[in-house]
Amino acid sequence: MAKIKIQINSSTYQPDVDPEMPLLWVIRDFVGLTGTKYGCGIGQCGACTVHLDGHAVRSCTIPVSAVRNQKITTIEGLSTDGNHPLQVAWKERDVPQCGYCQAGQIMNAAALLMQNPQPSDADITIGMSGNLCRCGTYQRIHQAIKQASLARK
Ligand code: FES
Ligand code: FES
Repeated sequence: MAKIKIQINSSTYQPDVDPEMPLLWVIRDFVGLTGTKYGCGIGQCGACTVHLDGHAVRSCTIPVSAVRNQKITTIEGLSTDGNHPLQVAWKERDVPQCGYCQAGQIMNAAALLMQNPQPSDADITIGMSGNLCRCGTYQRIHQAIKQASLARK
């Protein structure tokens, strides 16, 4: 065990954990932010997506010791009151079904828009291809990302 200083959503935490513990467990079990979900645990589904210094990463595959001094953002920190253009579009398009994958979808989409504010349809399809939705909401996710990208013009 070791005390590891990490920064999540502008707050600093120092959990006493195994340095090899996946970041996802620290976010959920030690910090108590449960918006980030566990899906596959092997980097294949995207449910656990958070931002690391603005880039989308799979928090189930990253040891917490690897994120010292880096800025982690979870779905709880994406906006102060749920008014990020993607969150607005998600509500207007009524995107989620069961909702389980959606935090990861939104975080992946937010990173995509940071890197490419006006993505083409192909850019969205490719950029979101690693995020799985067992409910099949892909079409509405695509439309919501398009709407959010236009709202940011
Ligand atoms: S839980 Fe991390 S990619 Fe599936
Ligand atoms: S909304 Fe159910 S898994 Fe995506």
